[in-house]
Amino acid sequence: MKRVALVYSLIALAAPLVSQAAAPAGSPDNGKLVYEKWCLPCHGVRVDTGFPGTSNAMYPGTAALAVKYKGTQPPVLTDRTNLTPELVKTIVRNGISAMPRTRKTEINDAELNDVAAYLTQKKPNPTRR
Ligand code: HEC
Repeated sequence: MKRVALVYSLIALAAPLVSQAAAPAGSPDNGKLVYEKWCLPCHGVRVDTGFPGTSNAMYPGTAALAVKYKGTQPPVLTDRTNLTPELVKTIVRNGISAMPRTRKTEINDAELNDVAAYLTQKKPNPTRR
């Protein structure tokens, strides 16, 4: 009887691993919510405050990407059309330059999948900023 219980608990432990391996692409709708909570404070859209030189400074990620790509890519992540889910997930888990890594206790794997789906969904008419 004990052995049966052990087998069942092992199956219960392994089930999330299996279902995650076969997980379909994430949900962009939930990804948007996760993105707005965790990423927007740094990757927000440029706001014109009216004071010269202050608008980009409010968003370190947007400002850094404007400098990095010098107009060859939109600095706002949601306007990008060349991000891949793998790139987004790798950067979020490892960080890059001034961007800190994000732990699984902050954004779990399913939520990160959703963020990646949100950032890589097809954009019919991307705006350039
Ligand atoms: C504390 C600020 C901060 C937060 C929070 C943050 N980022 Fe970043 N992110 C940055 C900075 C700064 C850069 C530019 C790094 C560089 O200079 O290469 C960056 C770069 C990136 C890049 C690389 C783009 C490229 O082409 O180089 C991706 C993708 C990215 N961030 C995704 C995210 C996602 C998704 C989240 C939320 C889960 C997030 N970031 C949260 C600051 C942040």
